[in-house]
Amino acid sequence: SAIFLKDYTVPPFLIDKTELTFELDEAVTIVTSRLHMRRNPASGKSTCPLVLDGGEEVKLVGVAMDDYPLPPEEYRISEDKLIITATADEFILTCETVIEPQNNTRLEGLYRSSSMFCTQCEAEGFRHITYYLDRPDVMSVFTTTIIADEARYPVMLSNGNEVERGKTDEGKTVVVWHDPFPKPAYLFALVAGDLAVKNDVFTTQSKRDIKLQIFTESHNIDKVDYAMEALKRSMRWDEQVYGREYDLDIFMIVAVDDFNMGAMENKGLNIFNSSCLLASPETTTDDSYLRVEAIVAHEYFHNWSGNRVTCRDWFQLSLKEGFTVFRDQTFSADMHSETVKRVEDVSFLKTAQFAEDAGPMAHPVRPASFIEIANFYTLTVYEKGAEIVRMIHTLLGAEKFRAGSDLYFERHDGQAVTCDDFLAAMEDASGVDLAQFKRWYSQAGTPIVTVTDTFDEETGTYRLTITQDTPPTPAQPTKLPLHIPVRVGLLDKQGQALSSELNGTTSEEHVLQLTDSEQVFEFSGLSACPVPSLLRGFSAPVKLRYDYSTSDLLLLMSADADGFNRWSAAQQLAVNELSGLIKQAIDGQAFALDSQLVEGFKVLLGDSSLDPAMVALILSLPSQAYLSELANPIYPAAIKEARQYLKTQLANALRGDFERVYHEHNVQGAYQATAKDIAHRSLKNMALSYWVETKEAGAQQAVFEQFQSSNNMTDQFSALSIAVTSQHDKASEMLAAFYDQWQTEPLVVNKWLMLSASQESDHALETVKGLMAHPAFDLKNPNKVRSVLGGFGQNVAGFHKEDGSGYHFLADQIILLNKRNPQIASRLCTPLTRWRKLQPELSLKMKTELERIMSEDLSKDVYEVISKSLA
Ligand code: ARG
Ligand code: ZN
Repeated sequence: SAIFLKDYTVPPFLIDKTELTFELDEAVTIVTSRLHMRRNPASGKSTCPLVLDGGEEVKLVGVAMDDYPLPPEEYRISEDKLIITATADEFILTCETVIEPQNNTRLEGLYRSSSMFCTQCEAEGFRHITYYLDRPDVMSVFTTTIIADEARYPVMLSNGNEVERGKTDEGKTVVVWHDPFPKPAYLFALVAGDLAVKNDVFTTQSKRDIKLQIFTESHNIDKVDYAMEALKRSMRWDEQVYGREYDLDIFMIVAVDDFNMGAMENKGLNIFNSSCLLASPETTTDDSYLRVEAIVAHEYFHNWSGNRVTCRDWFQLSLKEGFTVFRDQTFSADMHSETVKRVEDVSFLKTAQFAEDAGPMAHPVRPASFIEIANFYTLTVYEKGAEIVRMIHTLLGAEKFRAGSDLYFERHDGQAVTCDDFLAAMEDASGVDLAQFKRWYSQAGTPIVTVTDTFDEETGTYRLTITQDTPPTPAQPTKLPLHIPVRVGLLDKQGQALSSELNGTTSEEHVLQLTDSEQVFEFSGLSACPVPSLLRGFSAPVKLRYDYSTSDLLLLMSADADGFNRWSAAQQLAVNELSGLIKQAIDGQAFALDSQLVEGFKVLLGDSSLDPAMVALILSLPSQAYLSELANPIYPAAIKEARQYLKTQLANALRGDFERVYHEHNVQGAYQATAKDIAHRSLKNMALSYWVETKEAGAQQAVFEQFQSSNNMTDQFSALSIAVTSQHDKASEMLAAFYDQWQTEPLVVNKWLMLSASQESDHALETVKGLMAHPAFDLKNPNKVRSVLGGFGQNVAGFHKEDGSGYHFLADQIILLNKRNPQIASRLCTPLTRWRKLQPELSLKMKTELERIMSEDLSKDVYEVISKSLA
């Protein structure tokens, strides 16, 4: 059943101090808690029972109040709650509980990964460790004692500082950790294992030395140098850009192989999915290097935006996630190229978040209700949440935004607060009114912003009429107008920037404040009708509609002062072209191509002044997923055919250019994950992917040689992917050789699994079944499940096969994982949530599978997604 934001009440009890003892062992782990509790004066309740959260698998051995064991009539256990009938106003509650981490396949709470113990407590994992008030507005000072066999677990870690170390009478090692900062249980962490460590030091701006440690299994410790450097860059950046200094004397990161998500910001002890931490030139692609840097930064930034100031309740999740994603995006932009980073982020948002916003799971950035909070770690909460913070930055300007952030941290340090508190700090520090803006938090769906224009020759006035409209979403049939910042520039027909006057301000760029459902903006001081460059930098997460001519788009693509909009214009050109082709494919007509895109791409390939990374992004063509988001209904095979046709046509028309660009950008020398080298590699490999479509022997040979001789994973894996997608003669041989070469590197094997599963063919399903039976596969490991089933989801021929066998297979896997790992099972449902938008025959087949899943005994996680999809 659902939980509602409107039902929030303050906790009836507080826990000032939490003392935990873990006796770790292979068979059972004994957890003893001593909770220093008192009634919360703010709750106004003086008699209510004490209700603690606990997972059904937590076995209670004993419970005591102020050290007197409680008799059975004074407490009861009801499903996942421990209820104590009567308490004093202030007391110490002691619980002894037993858990079996080795049988924890959900990977929430305390579990085993390889030979180590580790934890994941966000959002509600702590209750699977012991009984507790598992809610983020209960903040407590934790002291954690770990008792284990030193031989097997020489490293024993928890939050804060190590304050004591000794031995028990039986010769086990005892380590005590103390974290002086009050925190909610979701930030608790414990790790124990035989781990290697890399040490470093960071000196803060106030000249404190912080000990930095990264722990991994010993065979991986040679792959943490990049993450360590990224951590130090993050620490410096947060001081310089936000004035935030690290607080404890030690900061630790641990890599684990079995992890449901990317990483977790536990206080002083971040835990990472090893795929988001480990990096080496031979085994890691450029994309993954950038991901490691971004996630290290993200988790580190949470120390302030999330830990020092946390969330009052889980509806406020975007308070920490939206802000922290905005912070990590800006950090990556500062470390590399701002425009490239923006294009990548927006592309992702428009592909995946827009699809979520248009589907059955659409929800506001601050949801009004949920059944299972784990389902709300979404693109909406994270990525759209970050866009909201970015809009505040646009509306306030950098300086006032910083003042707002300073005030927020100062005012709320040590508190659990709401998105309203964040906005209030921004308003109070800047004097900018955000009352209407606040609707972005409560209204779901992607607004459609439509622009039309007129030019008055006589007065030199250019008028933009802008309307906004947000389509209905589940539980929100009608929508109110939002406060939307629209960044605009004007160009003359030669592409020169034009200065114009708007509301008394003369400038080459204006930020329009769109607040009504329809508004007119008048620009004066113009001598001819301009070409508008709208929504520069993607100044708001909306769908922009303006009827650009092809020549306008070519002009913006080559001349706009805003790098983001140059990409955006190119993408619109390609979308226009592809929409025509998709329609022809659906109607069974012969394909006909407009030559202007070819001309545009030729100019692009010949312009050596451009950032090669931008050229590569423009050449990459709108993805299958993005074109699916735009389509209604979606014809997957037609989209695939149209993309393939366009790619081949461009390849044949520009074959010489692609070959030349391939050779020009073929950087040699030692691998470096710098923006410059990454840019060259991305353009080189993009050019190769086109050139090979000509089927020329030289291109085929270049792919094979690059696969065999490159000194880095980016080039080797690009060559392999190109071989697989272009159905290269040697594709199978190369795939097999790749596995042979890398079978002892699990992260590389995951890439192999993903690529193998995405290989388009008539017998794709058999291939995928084979992969799941392969020794390299492991159902317990979320990375492997994601690789194979995620790869299969991209496989148009396999997943969308007309007989529905692809959907049936995915449904089987969801049912299989439903109880074992509900979070992963729930994530796997995403492709099925799009069923209503699919072409009719496929739509019905997908719906049948949803109904079949629905008839099972479902976890809350899967139940929520499937039931909402069918509603
Ligand atoms: N707070 C983490 C992050 O964004 C995500 C953890 C989510 N985990 C989960 N099981 N839902 O950095
Ligand atoms: Zn986060």
